[in-house]
Amino acid sequence: MKIFLDTADIEEIRTAARWGILDGVTTNPTLYAKVGGSYEDILREVCSLTPGPVSAEVVADEVDDMLEEGRAFAKLAPNIVVKVPMSENGLEAISRFAEEGIKTNCTLIFSTNQGLLAAKAGASLISPFVGRLDDINEDGMIVIRELAEIFALHDIESEVLAASIRHPLHVTQAALAGAHIATLPFKVLQQMVRHPLTDKGIVQFKSDWEKARQAAGAGTPG
Ligand code: E4P
Repeated sequence: MKIFLDTADIEEIRTAARWGILDGVTTNPTLYAKVGGSYEDILREVCSLTPGPVSAEVVADEVDDMLEEGRAFAKLAPNIVVKVPMSENGLEAISRFAEEGIKTNCTLIFSTNQGLLAAKAGASLISPFVGRLDDINEDGMIVIRELAEIFALHDIESEVLAASIRHPLHVTQAALAGAHIATLPFKVLQQMVRHPLTDKGIVQFKSDWEKARQAAGAGTPG
């Protein structure tokens, strides 16, 4: 399963890229609002930090306006993927982008049927929001599992991108459910790195090493 970072924060993206685990980035208007500045400049910089897909989200409601916004994003870098919200207009825009060879990520997917339609319209990435479904007492992982199964069963090329990931367990569950990609807040990525027994083990090894070195030093003649 590929790992994307769900952020518009350049430092977080730089860090994950240095760790060698970054396969792409997703942004959205909320994540952009947290950092501010020029969205276009941020996207250009993010695209230079990863060769993987970088999602840039349109906010227009009408098809022609979505197309205009998306085409402008697509000109910024070759790895831009235009993120389009699920709706009747969204499907039309996705299908038009597909005809133009512009890749899309259909966002705000909350049901398997929405995901199926987005894939049929030609979206490369399908983003079910796991955490937001869990928030309303529905099992978000069911949508991931069903879409992964349907895409495999019918040789559909679109990839299932598990979004709205809230904690490390979601990542494991998404991988087991067959998600092709999970997009994570940087905090979840850090949580995945850590384990209390790893921290304890590092302290213990350091301390034993120091003791052994001191003993060896003490035992050395003159
Ligand atoms: C990613 O593409 C989504 O925009 C994002 O994962 C939404 O996450 P949230 O539900 O935590 O806002």
